[in-house]
Amino acid sequence: MSTSRTSPSRSSLRVRCTALFAGLTAVGALLAAGTTGAHAADGPLRDLAAAKGKVMGTAVTGSKLTGTYGEIAGREFNALTPGNAMKWGSVEPVRGTFDWAEADRIVDFAEAHGQQVRGHTLVWHSQNPGWLDNGTWTPAQLGQLMKDHIATEVGRYKGRLATWDVVNEPFNEDGTYRQTLWYNGLGADYIAQALTAARAADPAARLYINDYNVEGVNAKSTALYNLVKSLKERGVPIDGVGLQAHLIVGQVPSTLQQNIQRFADLGVDVAITELDIRMQLPSDSAKLTRQAADYKAVVNACVAVARCVGVTVWGFTDSDSWIPDTFPGQGAATPYDENYAPKPAYHAIAEALGGTTTPPTGACTAAYSVTSQWDTGFTGQVRIACTGAALSSWKAGWTFGAGQRVTQAWNAACSQSGAVVSCSNASYNGSVPSGGSVTFGFNGSWSGSNPVPTVTLG
Ligand code: XIL
Repeated sequence: MSTSRTSPSRSSLRVRCTALFAGLTAVGALLAAGTTGAHAADGPLRDLAAAKGKVMGTAVTGSKLTGTYGEIAGREFNALTPGNAMKWGSVEPVRGTFDWAEADRIVDFAEAHGQQVRGHTLVWHSQNPGWLDNGTWTPAQLGQLMKDHIATEVGRYKGRLATWDVVNEPFNEDGTYRQTLWYNGLGADYIAQALTAARAADPAARLYINDYNVEGVNAKSTALYNLVKSLKERGVPIDGVGLQAHLIVGQVPSTLQQNIQRFADLGVDVAITELDIRMQLPSDSAKLTRQAADYKAVVNACVAVARCVGVTVWGFTDSDSWIPDTFPGQGAATPYDENYAPKPAYHAIAEALGGTTTPPTGACTAAYSVTSQWDTGFTGQVRIACTGAALSSWKAGWTFGAGQRVTQAWNAACSQSGAVVSCSNASYNGSVPSGGSVTFGFNGSWSGSNPVPTVTLG
């Protein structure tokens, strides 16, 4: 792929309320809104994290790494984890036939953006190819298959990946071993064998065991603790534990930091590897505020422990989250909404990483995004959202930086003069209440590059 050609440039998607207040309803609220809305932009999360010596990562889908999605992934994060692209079922769907396209794309993108990559995952009971799951294998054959897979995949990316989730989800909730293809065929020693094979294939990669519901001190995390302790004692290569952290709003374990610390005290690194914090849909401002506090608590816990290397979110936008598919009725689990507007959780992460700015309270903001792009054209949208302020009519304007032209708009009346685009509300969507939003869309033409402009809201 050609990132430079298809990605909007790194300009800020964040937009401020300016002094164009015509149309705001309550003048008192409006002045407060104007003041607090004009907050300084938060630094990208990756810079805040780097200043603390931490990783701020996101899981990504390789095919989406263009347009606004690619722009945010590259700008805000200093680490990427392929959400699915490196799983066995993705890379070897047919025995002996490999498909590395999406995994390569992610690794290439990461290198182009100065990001590290967390390989995910080598030995798991899920998302394996059918030929592996449905085959009949002797223990010797199974052990060889596992070792060959590790040698092939880790070897392919040798020297390019910072970290591997070597073994994923080995435990049951009560701390017993999960009965999987691997455990049933090879016994608990499959874990040591996998780690040893991964070390041989890339001695520089940090090797992890990763699991969920091991964030607090409980039976499952204690089993993981005892395993890591015994692996260390036996001299098996183990560098870290991954706490997935698929959490529910209001349910961050109170023992999270204590648990991170006890692993650190064993002499291994700890990473929060798959953070998302889901809620019952629809979301509302109370739930989003609570979610922000929860995100902050998780990041704070990692920041507080030196050997906690960082936090990876499992998708940065609600439009690319596994939650709605897996937990029906739940969602809104990531730091950006479906339209790429940062949620309170985004600002909470920034604050926990030492950002000095506070989230906008009492403001209307506009977020511009490119939702699709092809050879000469693109579709864009602008979402206007208000919190603690309201609009009874609106204008949104921007200046295109690379000769783009709006060819057609809907849910707004848009005109363009030179590079300057002016849009105003349609007859039916001028009103944006506090807590509400309005989105309008347009088609445009572009050539060469399609940088994202800054929208001024009035
Ligand atoms: C999830 C992906 O996000 C989904 O797209 C896929 O359909 C299922 O797997 N624990 C893990 C991740 O270690 O690999 C899982 O990812 C989420 C739970």
